[in-house]
Amino acid sequence: MTSDLRAAKAPRRTQVGIVGAGPAGLLLSHLLHLAGVDSVVLETRSRAEIEATLRAGVLEQGTVDLLRECGLGDRMMREGFVHQGIDLLFDGSRHRIDLAELTGGRAITIYPQHEVIRDLVKARLDAGGNILFDVRNVETLDFDASHPRLRYELAGISHELTCDYVAGCDGFHGVCRQAVPNAARTEYTRSYPFGWFGILVRAAPYSTELVYAHHERGFSLVSTRSATVQRLYLQCDPADHADDWPDERIWEELDERLATRSGWTLPRGEIFQKGVIAMRSFVLEPMTYGTLYLAGDAAHIVPPTGAKGLNLAVADVQVLASAFAERYATGKSGALDRYSSIALERVWAAEHFSWWMTSMLHRFPDDDRFGYRMQLAQLAKVIGSTALQTALAEQYVGSPLPGAADYRKVSAPRGRYRTTADRRDSAADTR
Ligand code: FAD
Ligand code: PHB
Repeated sequence: MTSDLRAAKAPRRTQVGIVGAGPAGLLLSHLLHLAGVDSVVLETRSRAEIEATLRAGVLEQGTVDLLRECGLGDRMMREGFVHQGIDLLFDGSRHRIDLAELTGGRAITIYPQHEVIRDLVKARLDAGGNILFDVRNVETLDFDASHPRLRYELAGISHELTCDYVAGCDGFHGVCRQAVPNAARTEYTRSYPFGWFGILVRAAPYSTELVYAHHERGFSLVSTRSATVQRLYLQCDPADHADDWPDERIWEELDERLATRSGWTLPRGEIFQKGVIAMRSFVLEPMTYGTLYLAGDAAHIVPPTGAKGLNLAVADVQVLASAFAERYATGKSGALDRYSSIALERVWAAEHFSWWMTSMLHRFPDDDRFGYRMQLAQLAKVIGSTALQTALAEQYVGSPLPGAADYRKVSAPRGRYRTTADRRDSAADTR
């Protein structure tokens, strides 16, 4: 479509204006559509860009259940991998935490975030949904009035969208959170004195399940994306750049940090992407202001160690979509009034879990040898205690989402996932 045509079709009125087409914004738009509520999504990037940005990989059980219940499970079921456990590696040995056994059959699914995004964009566009890509200079106006407005540019022309409500789903660096006056917000922040150096490698899976590794030289993580692409992370200096990590340094460091007494090593593969990820915890309270409702990274950030960011975004919009649905079905705004406090309960639990995993597994620059031994003692306690393993497993797979069953009326595709056991034979696991 030409820019002129796109600009001419810019809508002027909607019930819920959504800023940001990440997982939070797109899923909210999809759930609202199922509830018969109109929305328009504004996104600064192109469709190609959002569908190609590599980020999260781990979906909690509740996220998977919700995506299936709202008709988005087809490809995830065919292409995703269910993992029923994770490994903690420390002091030269790998120890399995059996997530499924400890949580009554709950598990995680490895299905990359950009694939979730592709499924969501397709579902919205197939249903005639309104996603405006490549918008510029989004401004938020009148959140304290009854009809907030979003002003933006599309193809060089300025437009205004009048809404009943605005959902700020524009991530940590977006504009919506900044629109909340200082007097109406409290922020809680922690920055960690390290980052993650992430790489993508062309190789067969290194392990049937994720390996979280503690080492004197720093944390590392073995994850996966597909049968041919693997995702690996190394704790690094937050000021590092990709140039600081030539391939040889990466492999040497991985060899050191992942060494086990049984001689586990990763076969080299072609490294085709490198990048540094900042580690921080952040929460904004409350997650609402007037007619603005924040969701996902716009309202909170967790360090990636607990794999919670995308899952929290999903949990937020599940609560928010039900609240909007109730408001439009009954005229009552009680559920919208409770949105922030309900969402924040799960947010703080995830903040604690992510902080705990981060503190237990990473080396801190000011840590002495005593601190190092305290981490080893903590890890030994976890793997030596069914109670502590259960606590870790329950938090890692995540608690069920409230009210996910409401979407069950929408087709839930039936079928079978590939599980950890299916892949055990083919993976190069040398535990
Ligand atoms: P985002 O995904 O950031 O989406 C926000 C969207 O808003 C973007 O498309 C952006 O372009 C758009 N936008 C920004 N500003 C504007 C504006 N002014 N106007 C319009 N649009 C705007 N989480 C997990 O649960 N599991 C994991 O395994 C995991 N691993 C991770 C690994 C890495 C390396 C990283 C970086 C993150 C990881 N996360 C993980 C976190 C997860 O990726 C995020 O929490 C998730 O993307 C949040 O979704 P969101 O929709 O809230 O925000
Ligand atoms: C990932 O595969 O990107 C991933 C896995 C587990 C995490 C964080 C990221 O804790």
